[in-house]
Amino acid sequence: MTLQIKPDSADYVARISGVDLSRPLDEASVGAIVEASDKYAVLVFHDQPLTDEQLVNFGASFGPLDVGLQEKLMKKVQDRYASAAISDISNVDGSSGDVADRKHKQAIMNVGNRFWHSDSSYDRHPYRYSILTAKTVASKGGATEYADLRAAYDALDEDTKALIADRTATFYSHFTRQWLGIEDRPEDLRVFPPVRWPMVRTHPGSGRKLLWCDSKVCEISGMSIPEGRALAHELIEHIGQRERVYSHYWQPHDVILYDNRSVLHRGRRFDMTERREMRRVATVDSSEALEQAPVSVALPAGMLAAG
Ligand code: OGA
Ligand code: MN
Repeated sequence: MTLQIKPDSADYVARISGVDLSRPLDEASVGAIVEASDKYAVLVFHDQPLTDEQLVNFGASFGPLDVGLQEKLMKKVQDRYASAAISDISNVDGSSGDVADRKHKQAIMNVGNRFWHSDSSYDRHPYRYSILTAKTVASKGGATEYADLRAAYDALDEDTKALIADRTATFYSHFTRQWLGIEDRPEDLRVFPPVRWPMVRTHPGSGRKLLWCDSKVCEISGMSIPEGRALAHELIEHIGQRERVYSHYWQPHDVILYDNRSVLHRGRRFDMTERREMRRVATVDSSEALEQAPVSVALPAGMLAAG
Protein backbone atom coordinates (compact mmCIF):
# COMPACT_ATOMS: atom_id res chain seq x y z
CA MET A 1 0.00 0.00 0.00
CA THR A 2 1.32 3.40 -0.78
CA LEU A 3 1.10 6.57 1.23
CA GLN A 4 -2.24 8.29 0.91
CA ILE A 5 -2.83 11.96 1.64
CA LYS A 6 -6.39 13.04 2.27
CA PRO A 7 -6.91 16.77 2.75
CA ASP A 8 -9.14 17.76 5.67
CA SER A 9 -11.72 20.53 5.43
CA ALA A 10 -9.13 22.86 7.00
CA ASP A 11 -6.83 23.38 4.02
CA TYR A 12 -3.58 23.11 6.01
CA VAL A 13 -4.47 19.70 7.55
CA ALA A 14 -4.29 16.25 5.96
CA ARG A 15 -4.83 12.67 7.08
CA ILE A 16 -2.12 10.23 6.06
CA SER A 17 -2.66 6.51 5.67
CA GLY A 18 -0.91 3.59 4.01
CA VAL A 19 2.21 3.82 6.13
CA ASP A 20 3.30 1.96 9.27
CA LEU A 21 5.19 4.42 11.47
CA SER A 22 6.56 1.68 13.71
CA ARG A 23 8.83 0.46 10.89
CA PRO A 24 11.84 2.25 9.40
CA LEU A 25 10.69 4.58 6.63
CA ASP A 26 12.34 4.49 3.24
CA GLU A 27 13.65 7.70 1.72
CA ALA A 28 10.70 8.04 -0.62
CA SER A 29 8.19 7.93 2.27
CA VAL A 30 10.18 10.47 4.28
CA GLY A 31 10.28 12.71 1.19
CA ALA A 32 6.54 12.32 0.62
CA ILE A 33 5.77 13.21 4.25
CA VAL A 34 8.03 16.28 4.15
CA GLU A 35 6.43 17.38 0.90
CA ALA A 36 2.94 16.89 2.34
CA SER A 37 3.90 18.87 5.45
CA ASP A 38 5.10 21.81 3.35
CA LYS A 39 1.61 22.06 1.97
CA TYR A 40 -0.54 20.92 4.88
CA ALA A 41 1.57 21.72 7.99
CA VAL A 42 -0.53 19.36 10.16
CA LEU A 43 -0.42 15.66 9.29
CA VAL A 44 -2.70 13.31 11.18
CA PHE A 45 -2.00 9.57 11.34
CA HIS A 46 -4.50 7.24 13.02
CA ASP A 47 -3.96 3.84 14.69
CA GLN A 48 -0.20 4.02 15.04
CA PRO A 49 0.70 2.46 18.39
CA LEU A 50 4.39 3.28 18.86
CA THR A 51 6.83 2.20 21.53
CA ASP A 52 9.07 4.97 22.84
CA GLU A 53 11.88 3.65 20.71
CA GLN A 54 9.72 3.61 17.59
CA LEU A 55 8.57 7.17 18.28
CA VAL A 56 12.19 8.30 18.56
CA ASN A 57 13.14 6.45 15.38
CA PHE A 58 10.22 7.87 13.44
CA GLY A 59 11.11 11.41 14.58
CA ALA A 60 14.80 10.94 13.80
CA SER A 61 14.01 10.16 10.16
CA PHE A 62 13.25 13.89 9.77
CA GLY A 63 16.42 15.26 11.36
CA PRO A 64 18.27 15.50 14.66
CA LEU A 65 15.94 15.41 17.66
CA ASP A 66 16.06 17.99 20.41
CA VAL A 67 17.17 16.79 23.83
CA GLY A 68 17.96 20.24 25.31
CA LEU A 69 14.53 20.97 26.74
CA GLN A 70 14.47 17.74 28.72
CA GLU A 71 18.11 18.01 29.75
CA LYS A 72 18.04 21.69 30.70
CA LEU A 73 14.60 22.09 32.28
CA MET A 74 12.01 19.36 32.15
CA LYS A 75 13.96 16.64 33.86
CA LYS A 76 14.02 18.82 36.97
CA VAL A 77 10.28 18.20 37.13
CA GLN A 78 10.39 14.49 36.31
CA ASP A 79 12.29 12.15 34.03
CA ARG A 80 10.24 9.08 33.12
CA TYR A 81 11.71 8.03 29.78
CA ALA A 82 14.90 6.34 28.72
CA SER A 83 15.40 8.89 25.92
CA ALA A 84 15.83 12.63 26.59
CA ALA A 85 14.32 13.18 23.14
CA ILE A 86 10.87 12.35 24.54
CA SER A 87 8.88 15.11 26.22
CA ASP A 88 6.37 14.00 28.80
CA ILE A 89 3.18 15.84 27.84
CA SER A 90 1.04 14.25 30.51
CA ASN A 91 -0.57 14.87 33.85
CA VAL A 92 0.94 11.69 35.28
CA ASP A 93 2.96 11.86 38.48
CA GLY A 94 6.17 10.00 37.62
CA SER A 95 6.80 8.75 41.14
CA SER A 96 3.38 7.17 41.74
CA GLY A 97 2.29 6.55 38.15
CA ASP A 98 -1.11 8.03 39.04
CA VAL A 99 -2.79 11.19 37.84
CA ALA A 100 -0.80 14.09 39.24
CA ASP A 101 -2.40 16.46 41.70
CA ARG A 102 -3.42 19.68 39.95
CA LYS A 103 -0.75 21.49 41.98
CA HIS A 104 2.00 19.10 40.87
CA LYS A 105 4.67 20.80 38.73
CA GLN A 106 4.04 18.31 35.93
CA ALA A 107 0.33 19.25 35.81
CA ILE A 108 1.11 22.97 36.01
CA MET A 109 3.74 22.81 33.28
CA ASN A 110 1.14 21.56 30.82
CA VAL A 111 -1.22 24.42 31.65
CA GLY A 112 1.32 26.61 29.82
CA ASN A 113 0.50 24.69 26.63
CA ARG A 114 -2.99 26.23 26.62
CA PHE A 115 -1.62 29.46 25.11
CA TRP A 116 -1.15 29.66 21.33
CA HIS A 117 2.47 28.81 20.62
CA SER A 118 5.01 27.30 18.28
CA ASP A 119 7.19 24.77 20.11
CA SER A 120 10.51 26.30 21.08
CA SER A 121 9.87 29.68 19.39
CA TYR A 122 11.81 31.09 22.35
CA ASP A 123 14.93 29.07 21.53
CA ARG A 124 17.73 30.39 19.36
CA HIS A 125 17.43 27.11 17.43
CA PRO A 126 13.72 26.30 17.53
CA TYR A 127 11.91 23.18 16.41
CA ARG A 128 10.94 22.28 12.88
CA TYR A 129 8.62 19.29 13.27
CA SER A 130 6.96 18.22 16.48
CA ILE A 131 5.49 14.75 16.60
CA LEU A 132 2.84 14.32 19.25
CA THR A 133 1.12 11.05 20.06
CA ALA A 134 -1.71 10.17 22.43
CA LYS A 135 -1.52 7.20 24.80
CA THR A 136 -4.46 7.92 27.08
CA VAL A 137 -7.04 10.55 26.21
CA ALA A 138 -9.45 12.59 28.30
CA SER A 139 -13.11 11.55 28.03
CA LYS A 140 -14.10 15.15 27.23
CA GLY A 141 -12.15 18.19 26.01
CA GLY A 142 -8.37 17.99 25.81
CA ALA A 143 -8.31 18.75 22.09
CA THR A 144 -5.22 20.20 20.48
CA GLU A 145 -5.91 23.13 18.17
CA TYR A 146 -3.83 24.33 15.25
CA ALA A 147 -3.87 27.64 13.38
CA ASP A 148 -2.08 28.43 10.10
CA LEU A 149 0.41 31.33 10.30
CA ARG A 150 0.62 31.62 6.52
CA ALA A 151 -3.13 32.11 6.08
CA ALA A 152 -3.02 34.49 9.04
CA TYR A 153 -0.40 36.62 7.28
CA ASP A 154 -2.37 36.64 4.03
CA ALA A 155 -5.49 37.78 5.89
CA LEU A 156 -3.83 40.78 7.56
CA ASP A 157 -4.95 44.17 6.27
CA GLU A 158 -2.36 46.20 4.37
CA ASP A 159 -1.82 48.68 7.24
CA THR A 160 -0.97 45.89 9.66
CA LYS A 161 1.32 44.23 7.12
CA ALA A 162 3.16 47.55 6.79
CA LEU A 163 3.24 48.04 10.57
CA ILE A 164 5.03 44.75 11.21
CA ALA A 165 7.04 44.47 7.99
CA ASP A 166 10.38 45.59 9.44
CA ARG A 167 9.85 44.80 13.11
CA THR A 168 11.29 42.13 15.31
CA ALA A 169 9.59 40.46 18.24
CA THR A 170 11.28 39.22 21.39
CA PHE A 171 10.20 35.73 22.48
CA TYR A 172 10.80 34.65 26.05
CA SER A 173 10.20 31.12 27.31
CA HIS A 174 8.98 32.09 30.77
CA PHE A 175 6.69 34.92 29.69
CA THR A 176 3.55 32.80 29.83
CA ARG A 177 4.69 31.14 33.06
CA GLN A 178 5.00 34.57 34.64
CA TRP A 179 1.56 35.52 33.37
CA LEU A 180 0.24 32.33 34.98
CA GLY A 181 1.86 33.28 38.28
CA ILE A 182 4.36 30.43 38.34
CA GLU A 183 7.38 31.36 40.41
CA ASP A 184 10.47 29.89 38.84
CA ARG A 185 13.94 29.81 40.31
CA PRO A 186 16.20 32.61 39.02
CA GLU A 187 18.58 30.09 37.46
CA ASP A 188 15.71 28.52 35.49
CA LEU A 189 14.65 31.92 34.17
CA ARG A 190 17.97 32.22 32.39
CA VAL A 191 18.09 28.78 30.78
CA PHE A 192 16.59 30.09 27.54
CA PRO A 193 17.54 33.77 27.19
CA PRO A 194 14.99 35.76 25.12
CA VAL A 195 15.53 35.80 21.36
CA ARG A 196 14.54 38.22 18.60
CA TRP A 197 12.86 37.14 15.37
CA PRO A 198 11.54 39.03 12.36
CA MET A 199 7.75 39.18 12.63
CA VAL A 200 7.35 38.26 8.98
CA ARG A 201 9.16 35.14 7.83
CA THR A 202 9.03 32.98 4.72
CA HIS A 203 8.35 29.28 5.05
CA PRO A 204 11.06 27.66 2.93
CA GLY A 205 9.05 24.61 1.84
CA SER A 206 5.99 26.48 0.59
CA GLY A 207 7.59 29.85 -0.18
CA ARG A 208 4.71 31.50 1.67
CA LYS A 209 5.06 34.44 4.04
CA LEU A 210 3.93 33.89 7.59
CA LEU A 211 3.06 35.96 10.64
CA TRP A 212 5.60 35.02 13.32
CA CYS A 213 4.05 35.82 16.67
CA ASP A 214 2.96 33.70 19.61
CA SER A 215 2.23 33.95 23.30
CA LYS A 216 5.94 34.12 24.16
CA VAL A 217 6.23 37.58 22.57
CA CYS A 218 7.02 40.08 25.33
CA GLU A 219 8.35 42.99 23.30
CA ILE A 220 8.15 44.39 19.74
CA SER A 221 10.92 46.57 18.31
CA GLY A 222 10.25 50.29 18.10
CA MET A 223 7.30 50.09 20.51
CA SER A 224 6.91 50.58 24.23
CA ILE A 225 6.55 47.31 26.14
CA PRO A 226 2.78 47.82 26.68
CA GLU A 227 2.19 48.75 23.02
CA GLY A 228 4.16 45.72 21.84
CA ARG A 229 2.33 43.35 24.15
CA ALA A 230 -1.04 44.76 23.12
CA LEU A 231 -0.14 44.28 19.44
CA ALA A 232 1.07 40.72 20.06
CA HIS A 233 -2.23 39.99 21.80
CA GLU A 234 -4.17 41.39 18.86
CA LEU A 235 -2.15 39.36 16.35
CA ILE A 236 -2.61 36.14 18.31
CA GLU A 237 -6.35 36.81 18.37
CA HIS A 238 -6.20 37.25 14.59
CA ILE A 239 -4.24 34.01 14.16
CA GLY A 240 -6.66 32.06 16.34
CA GLN A 241 -9.88 33.11 14.59
CA ARG A 242 -12.31 30.22 14.40
CA GLU A 243 -12.28 29.88 10.64
CA ARG A 244 -8.53 29.32 10.70
CA VAL A 245 -8.49 26.76 13.52
CA TYR A 246 -8.48 22.97 13.31
CA SER A 247 -9.40 21.18 16.56
CA HIS A 248 -8.09 17.67 16.94
CA TYR A 249 -9.99 15.44 19.36
CA TRP A 250 -7.57 12.66 20.16
CA GLN A 251 -8.00 8.90 19.92
CA PRO A 252 -5.36 6.70 21.53
CA HIS A 253 -2.49 6.02 19.09
CA ASP A 254 -3.16 9.06 16.94
CA VAL A 255 0.10 10.66 15.83
CA ILE A 256 0.30 14.24 14.59
CA LEU A 257 3.33 15.66 12.85
CA TYR A 258 3.15 19.46 12.67
CA ASP A 259 5.49 22.05 11.21
CA ASN A 260 6.23 24.67 13.89
CA ARG A 261 7.29 27.14 11.20
CA SER A 262 3.79 27.18 9.69
CA VAL A 263 1.30 26.73 12.53
CA LEU A 264 0.65 27.67 16.13
CA HIS A 265 -1.08 25.21 18.42
CA ARG A 266 -2.57 25.05 21.88
CA GLY A 267 -3.97 22.38 24.20
CA ARG A 268 -7.53 22.78 25.42
CA ARG A 269 -8.87 22.34 28.91
CA PHE A 270 -9.98 18.97 30.26
CA ASP A 271 -10.89 17.48 33.63
CA MET A 272 -7.53 17.35 35.35
CA THR A 273 -8.60 14.52 37.61
CA GLU A 274 -8.60 12.34 34.47
CA ARG A 275 -5.45 10.88 33.01
CA ARG A 276 -4.26 12.46 29.74
CA GLU A 277 -1.01 11.06 28.51
CA MET A 278 0.85 12.25 25.42
CA ARG A 279 4.45 11.97 24.27
CA ARG A 280 6.34 14.24 21.95
CA VAL A 281 9.58 14.30 20.01
CA ALA A 282 10.79 17.22 17.91
CA THR A 283 13.41 17.93 15.27
CA VAL A 284 15.65 20.95 15.51
CA ASP A 285 15.25 23.52 12.74
CA SER A 286 18.21 24.99 10.93
CA SER A 287 16.88 28.55 11.05
CA GLU A 288 18.24 30.74 13.77
CA ALA A 289 16.88 33.71 15.71
CA LEU A 290 18.52 37.04 14.86
CA GLU A 291 20.11 37.51 18.24
CA GLN A 292 19.65 36.98 21.91
CA ALA A 293 18.11 39.76 23.90
CA PRO A 294 19.11 40.45 27.49
CA VAL A 295 16.99 38.59 30.02
CA SER A 296 16.11 41.92 31.58
CA VAL A 297 14.08 42.92 28.48
CA ALA A 298 11.47 40.33 29.30
CA LEU A 299 11.68 40.79 33.02
CA PRO A 300 10.63 44.23 34.15
CA ALA A 301 12.32 45.30 37.36
CA GLY A 302 11.19 43.28 40.33
CA MET A 303 10.34 40.12 38.44
CA LEU A 304 13.88 38.81 38.52
CA ALA A 305 14.86 37.91 42.06
CA ALA A 306 18.36 38.94 43.10
CA GLY A 307 21.11 36.45 42.34
C1 OGA B 1 2.89 20.11 22.91
C2 OGA B 1 1.62 20.81 23.20
C3 OGA B 1 -0.74 20.51 23.57
C4 OGA B 1 -1.62 19.42 24.03
O1 OGA B 1 2.97 18.91 23.18
O2 OGA B 1 3.81 20.76 22.38
O3 OGA B 1 1.57 22.01 23.13
O4 OGA B 1 -2.80 19.42 23.65
N1 OGA B 1 0.58 20.03 23.50
O5 OGA B 1 -1.16 18.58 24.82
MN1 MN C 1 3.44 22.76 22.19
